[in-house]
Amino acid sequence: MRKIIIAGNWKMNKLISEAKELVRELKILVEGISEVEIVVCPVYTALYVVSQEISGSNIKLGSQDCFWEEKGAYTGEVSPVMLKDVGAEFVIIGHSERRQYFHETNEWVNKKTKKALEVGLRPIVCVGERLEEREAGKTFEVVRDQLEGGLGNLSSSDMMRVVIAYEPVWAIGTGKTATPSQAQEVHEFIRKWIAEKFGEKVAEEVTIQYGGSVKPNNARDLLSQKDIDGALVGGASLNAKDFAEIIKSAL
Ligand code: PGA
Repeated sequence: MRKIIIAGNWKMNKLISEAKELVRELKILVEGISEVEIVVCPVYTALYVVSQEISGSNIKLGSQDCFWEEKGAYTGEVSPVMLKDVGAEFVIIGHSERRQYFHETNEWVNKKTKKALEVGLRPIVCVGERLEEREAGKTFEVVRDQLEGGLGNLSSSDMMRVVIAYEPVWAIGTGKTATPSQAQEVHEFIRKWIAEKFGEKVAEEVTIQYGGSVKPNNARDLLSQKDIDGALVGGASLNAKDFAEIIKSAL
């Protein structure tokens, strides 16, 4: 049965010393929790120190992106093998900020996802519509295209290891959360897509997170929805108490 996964996307925040402090505080607050998989995704420069700090704890490490080659002349990129080397188990791929500011395409998302899976990382693949797309009634169309392009050609065994994060772009960092029923509707659509493509068994196994202004005061309602299996948390994950509260609301 799929597991609840709550991941903190720290985005471009925290110096090494701050990252260390944040994860130290978090470690104490979530000690002993085993029902929820807890992941933190720091910036590249803080991965090593956070990895050392969480060693032996119930917190797992994730990265915010990766490239699809293992090594070579790709200035500025970091490969999935290097992320494994530093202790990462997860990697966020295709976040809307990367799609928007760095022009990532579904094809890139697909290449990164495949490589991450090949080296044994679990990709957290982000999908979600922009406000004008929602208003034009295109939410399902946009999400289906992102799913097809990013994940459509995976094998069933690979698909089972993928985490999907549904993040409506208009809800990210805006304080405007999707209502639990708005989110559930899209999560159900995503699970149906997986079932049609990979079969019911795979669909039941895939964790589908919600992301977009998840806070301690709305997490419980979102997480109580049938097809919402966790959260990808941005802003609130930068505060250990808030992030721990979100994690506890999934228990
Ligand atoms: P937010 O970010 O929680 O700050 O809205 C979520 C995300 O971008 O993953």
